[in-house]
Amino acid sequence: MRIVLDIGGSVLCPEGIPDVNYIKKLSKFVIDLKRKKHRIIIVTGGGKIAKGYIKATRVFKPKEDLLDFIGILGTRMNAMVLIAALGKHAYDRVVRSKDGLEHGIKSGKIVVMGGTVARQTTDAVSIAAAKIFNADLILIGTDVKGIYDKDPNKHRNAKMLKSISAKKLYEVVKVKKHRAGPLTIMDPVAAKLLDYTKIKIIVLNGKDFSNMKKAIYGKKFAGTVIG
Ligand code: UTP
Repeated sequence: MRIVLDIGGSVLCPEGIPDVNYIKKLSKFVIDLKRKKHRIIIVTGGGKIAKGYIKATRVFKPKEDLLDFIGILGTRMNAMVLIAALGKHAYDRVVRSKDGLEHGIKSGKIVVMGGTVARQTTDAVSIAAAKIFNADLILIGTDVKGIYDKDPNKHRNAKMLKSISAKKLYEVVKVKKHRAGPLTIMDPVAAKLLDYTKIKIIVLNGKDFSNMKKAIYGKKFAGTVIG
């Protein structure tokens, strides 16, 4: 199976420094999948390192693209930590372009990438990469169990959705103007791309490896299916 694992920065780097214990467990999980002949691309989010730098730099009122590039650098720092953790199993460069991705895929190793271009987040990167990779599945690992009807961090009675259509998701997340930094659920660019893809996408808890395994092997799992 060809899998794109989109791991949110909120999971990789929740406090401004990478969560090394989590990254060790993630590496073990992914190396095990590789041993079982699955092919993997991991896309890393920026987390607090990206958000903190974007917030600090915003004081100077720069162009939004500059803030996006700061965010992209944050995502790539997390990607580098993961490459280090994966050792010989990883393609040893952070992929930054379509050409780079194709080279990485040809290497047969686990490919790791962060952000690519401004005005989107790594959710959009995952969907674009999945198309090039001809992926069977995209797993979006976050710090909550899936997509909820309202923000679960703010509302105790928020209910997790078992599924949501790409159209409905786009209606929820679309915004008039792009703004670098934190977003809810998914960025609108990614949600729009989803409308054009047939790849199976599941949003679930990126820390629950046994649940992710169930989702990969078609067993009953906790999470939200988009599509
Ligand atoms: P993330 O992908 O981490 O954003 O990129 P996010 O979804 O808001 O946060 P988490 O990580 O899932 O919690 C961080 C920021 O980097 C810029 C955007 O400003 C984004 O908000 N970015 C990232 C880009 O401009 N392009 C990319 O391809 C990726």
